[in-house]
Amino acid sequence: MKSYKIAVVPGDGSGPEMVREGIKVLKAASEKFNFHLNMTELDYGGKRYLQTGEVLPEGAVEELKQYQAIFLGAIGHPEVKPGILEKGILLHLRFELDQYINLRPVKLYPGIDTPLKDKGPEEIDFVVVRENTEGLYAGSGGFLRKGTPHEVAVQESINTRMGVERCLRYAFEYCRERNREKKLTLCGKTNVLTYAFDLWERTFYEIGEEYPDIKKDYAHVDAICMWMVKNPEQFDVIVTDNMFGDIITDLGAMIQGGMGIAAGGNINPNGTSMFEPIGGSAPKYTGTNTINPLASICAGGMMLDHLGEKEAAAAIEKAVMSACAGDIKSLSAGKMGYSTEEVGNLVVGYL
Ligand code: IPM
Ligand code: MN
Repeated sequence: MKSYKIAVVPGDGSGPEMVREGIKVLKAASEKFNFHLNMTELDYGGKRYLQTGEVLPEGAVEELKQYQAIFLGAIGHPEVKPGILEKGILLHLRFELDQYINLRPVKLYPGIDTPLKDKGPEEIDFVVVRENTEGLYAGSGGFLRKGTPHEVAVQESINTRMGVERCLRYAFEYCRERNREKKLTLCGKTNVLTYAFDLWERTFYEIGEEYPDIKKDYAHVDAICMWMVKNPEQFDVIVTDNMFGDIITDLGAMIQGGMGIAAGGNINPNGTSMFEPIGGSAPKYTGTNTINPLASICAGGMMLDHLGEKEAAAAIEKAVMSACAGDIKSLSAGKMGYSTEEVGNLVVGYL
């Protein structure tokens, strides 16, 4: 039987409750489709930081490289200053494990309400490929004369030809494999960010010649926000930089029904990838058994798809769709009509 070594990082806040249901569904899928998941839980997160003073133990990255994938809950603790855990754990792992793609599907399931009242599952089904290791997230910049009236703060967007090209290539390949509209939209801001997106745009059309079967499309990020609300059906795959990708995928999560169902993958095609609900740790729901675990369950499905268990991944998605169409009243925490645990059981039932 095939076996996969998975690191589980439940993390903070509602993370552990979401992950618990995610694991329940993953286990059910592994039994049904005959593979084994060898899972090891790691305690990285805010609680550990408050107790020990270190964000990650020494050798954490090397240890994580031994796993085939990481199943992550959420990082973020109300008692820890913003930035410490995000940079020290989440972004650190994305960078050190070179997970250069952040893959975020935006798909409305039957039975789920979107705030776009005239749109349904036919119209809302696209994928955002977000560059995940460069741009404004690279941490380049600094202060000059900090704390004085003449203070200067610089935050630079780093865009390397290598980083841009490998992200674009991934997006072209992904779009080809997805095999729908075969249309790739570059989301940028070439009218203002005339260096960074000049590089993106040039590289896009240059390597695009190797993909004659893919339609190439370009739109500015502000216009993309408008079209995502007005005509989301025009999108198939969108590729963009780290910062714009962060912003437009929160908008995407809302039009697909909410953070309760939005999942993503941090992907290194040749290394260890990490799958997570994109919504964060929702600390106010901690321990109440009311958080929606569907995002974590969908992240588990994406992980199986990435590992090559395509049938099991498709079955999880189908089970989630059935639960959405038949049972769950709302995707919001506390309004689902079921507890966190019951939603996990429902999905296992359909599976
Ligand atoms: C996300 C989050 C992170 C990001 C934060 C927590 C650093 O918003 O995964 O989208 O900005 O990438
Ligand atoms: Mn975000």
